[in-house]
Amino acid sequence: MSKIIAIESSCDETAAAVVKLTKKDVAPLSSTVASQIKIHTKTHGVVPEVAARAHLRNISAVVSDALKKSDSHLNDIDYIAVTAGPGLITSLMVGLEFAKSLALATGKMLIPVNHMAGHMYSPFLNQKKIKFPNINLIVSGGHTYLVLLQSKKNYKVIGQTLDDAAGEAFDKTAKMLGLPYPGGPQISRIAQGAEFDYGFPRPMINSKNFNFSFAGLKTAVLYKIKDEKLDIQNQKIKTNLAASFQNAVTDTLSSKTLRGAKLFKAKSIALSGGVAANKSLREKLESGARQLGVDFYVPDFHLCTDNALMIANAAAIMLKNGFKPVNPVKVKADPNIQL
Ligand code: KG4
Ligand code: ZN
Repeated sequence: MSKIIAIESSCDETAAAVVKLTKKDVAPLSSTVASQIKIHTKTHGVVPEVAARAHLRNISAVVSDALKKSDSHLNDIDYIAVTAGPGLITSLMVGLEFAKSLALATGKMLIPVNHMAGHMYSPFLNQKKIKFPNINLIVSGGHTYLVLLQSKKNYKVIGQTLDDAAGEAFDKTAKMLGLPYPGGPQISRIAQGAEFDYGFPRPMINSKNFNFSFAGLKTAVLYKIKDEKLDIQNQKIKTNLAASFQNAVTDTLSSKTLRGAKLFKAKSIALSGGVAANKSLREKLESGARQLGVDFYVPDFHLCTDNALMIANAAAIMLKNGFKPVNPVKVKADPNIQL
């Protein structure tokens, strides 16, 4: 049975994974993620040059580890999948050039993967039977997409963010509240003990289209702090602000996703990307899907944030969809590639 090794380095995780292609699906054999969070916490965000250097330091060891844990040798591998975009150009280039070299040295087929497609297919990893049409909300640090899938091959973006991505809004608001990078997990952690909701706006919640806008929400939090002279060192105030912000984002995301599911008569809803690790968002979509009587798919927590298993899974789907071999030398990283 064929095996794929996948490499991911689009932002601040260096990752590799090995999967076996089964008749119907993929069987994960290993997944290694080297996180750079500790490095980027010091600068309250990712400095591209620093991220690229860390990828360079880690990539050989991460790939060897994924091979070892899957009990594979490079000779046993049939395909080399790699994230080619979107992401930070200097980060992408490390993984891509490494994968290209592997493919050229071994003569194995290179499969360049769109990182957002990796996220989009990730909720399907453990599903035996996926019901279509599917509405997929992809919420990561750099992108927010609402996608309608008629099958694994046929999909269309029906909405996206007009400014900040959902994860970006979490990260920027967290920074304002003095919380460390990455802000999403920090906001959701402290939001738990909230007792009061400041009632921030739900941006574009009633607009007819399926686009999102989160930049104004961050500003609303800033003005609330300034206008009411709120002391963000006060833990209670910080908790209430974090929860109110989280409620506004998750209400908007879930409301528009559920409206899309109704309009397009979806038989299932999927949630993916780093912000899919947010419990409040998972719960709102899960209960909304239940009320609509449709299935709800979401990856395990560790597969929401960046990993290479989702890249291997997307590559397997691309192969099933008839992916044609490309010349590795000609493959270029594309930081702005669309879904
Ligand atoms: O998908 P991802 O790992 O990287 C990108 O492709 O961008 O997403 C990272 C984003 C960050 O903005 C991070 O703050 C957010 O996902 N995130 C969360 C949570 N865990 C990660 N946002 C809200 N709640 C969480 N629990
Ligand atoms: Zn991602």
